[in-house]
Amino acid sequence: MMRKRPLKVALLGCGVVGSEVARIMTTHAADLAARIGAPVELAGVAVRRPSRVREGIDPALVTTDATALVKRGDIDVVVEVIGGIEPARTLITTAFEHGASVVSANKALLAQDGAALHALAQEQGRDLYYEAAVAGAIPLIRPLRESLAGDKVNRVLGIVNGTTNFILDKMDSTGAGYQEALDEATALGYAEADPTADVEGFDAAAKAAILAGIAFHTRVRLDDVYREGMIEVTAADFASAKAMGCTIKLLAICERAADGGSVTARVHPAMIPLSHPLASVRGAYNAVFVESDAAGQLMFYGPGAGGAPTASAVLGDLVAVCRNKLSGATGPGDSAYTQLPVSPMGEVVTRYHISLDVADKPGVLAQVATVFAEHGVSIDTVRQQGRQDGGGDASLVVVTHRASDASLSGTVEALRNLDTVRGVASIMRVEGE
Ligand code: HSE
Repeated sequence: MMRKRPLKVALLGCGVVGSEVARIMTTHAADLAARIGAPVELAGVAVRRPSRVREGIDPALVTTDATALVKRGDIDVVVEVIGGIEPARTLITTAFEHGASVVSANKALLAQDGAALHALAQEQGRDLYYEAAVAGAIPLIRPLRESLAGDKVNRVLGIVNGTTNFILDKMDSTGAGYQEALDEATALGYAEADPTADVEGFDAAAKAAILAGIAFHTRVRLDDVYREGMIEVTAADFASAKAMGCTIKLLAICERAADGGSVTARVHPAMIPLSHPLASVRGAYNAVFVESDAAGQLMFYGPGAGGAPTASAVLGDLVAVCRNKLSGATGPGDSAYTQLPVSPMGEVVTRYHISLDVADKPGVLAQVATVFAEHGVSIDTVRQQGRQDGGGDASLVVVTHRASDASLSGTVEALRNLDTVRGVASIMRVEGE
C-alpha cells in the first residue's frame, strides 16, 4: 500500500550533481514512489546563487538559507552535495539534530570526520549514507558494507580518480608529457581549473581512507593515508613501463597486513602489468579491485565522476534511506570495531623499479648491487643501456623483489651517495602481480 504523506527531501547544493539529483527525482518520481512505498517530494533546495536559472526546479523551493532548511523539522532526508568541510559538516549535524537522515557525496568530510558524524547519526537514530563519495556511480560502499559483511576483505586496489587516469592514459597512448596531457584534460573539462586535489592525490587519498575503514572495519583517517601525486610521472617512465610489459596508474591501495594485525592505505603512481584488469581502465573511468578470503577477486568498474553518474549513487542511497524511514529502522552504521592500527609507509612491502644514471666503467654494477644487498633488498632484474650522448654514462634500471619501503628508501639514499651514481632518475613501485 502506498503511503499518502510524501517523504520530504532537502537538497543542499544544486551544481553538476545536485541538478541531476533534482532532475531524476522529478522524471523518475513514480518509479521512486513505487520502489520506496511513498512519494518523495523535493521540499527545498539550498544554493549560493539564487539568481541562476535551474530548469525543472520550482523557484519557490530555492533558498540561500541552508541552515533554516535543515532546521525545518519536517525534512526526512537531507541530500548534501555541496562538498568541502564547512558549512557541510555543520549542516549535516544540524540535520541529524532536527530529525533528518543524510545522504552525502562529500568524500573530504567523510574521510576527515566520518567517525564523529557516524556517532552523531547513531545517537540521533538517523542514517548516514555516502555511496556517491567514492568513485561516482560505481557501487562500492554498499558492496563492502553489506554484500561482503560476512567475508574478510584483505586488499582494495583501485583507480579512484578519473582526472588523473585520463591524463596518465593520454601520456601512455600518445607519448605526451604530463603538462600536455593535463592541458588536454582541462580543455575537455576532465580537469578543474585548479587540478591540485586530483593530480596531487588528495581526492584519491580521501577515497582510500573511506574504503580502507569500511573494508577492514577500522578507523582510517585522511592523515593515515600515504600520498604521492602523479605530476612527476614522465614520458620516460612510460617508456620504462612499456619495456617491462606494464603501464602506469595512480592507485589507491588499502591492505591488511599478512598477520592481520594492522592495515595500510596509500595513494601513489605505480607500474602495473598490462595483463592486470586495472591496466585496461581507460580515459576518465574508475575501477576498484577487491580481494577477500571467500569471494576471491572482485572488480567494480564504471564512471567515477560526472553529474548523472554521481546522482545515480545519490538516488540509490535516497531510496535506501527512505525505505529505512518507512520501516522505522536505520541501515548499517559505522563498523570500526577491529581498531586495527594503520602502519606507516615504511612498513609497506612491494616491488620497485629504479632508474639510475651511472658512470659506465668497471665495477659500477657491483657497487650498486652491493648497496641493494647491504639494505636487504633483493634484485630481480637489471638492465643497462649506454647513453647516446657519449658522456661515458649509462642508464641502469633495477627491478627489485618485494622489499619494505623503509629498506628501499635506505637503499636509494646510499645510492645517491655513491660517486659513480650521477642521479636517481625515477623510483616507481610495481603493483598488481
Ligand atoms: N575529481 C574526481 C575525479 C571526481 O577526477 O575522479 C570527484 O571525486
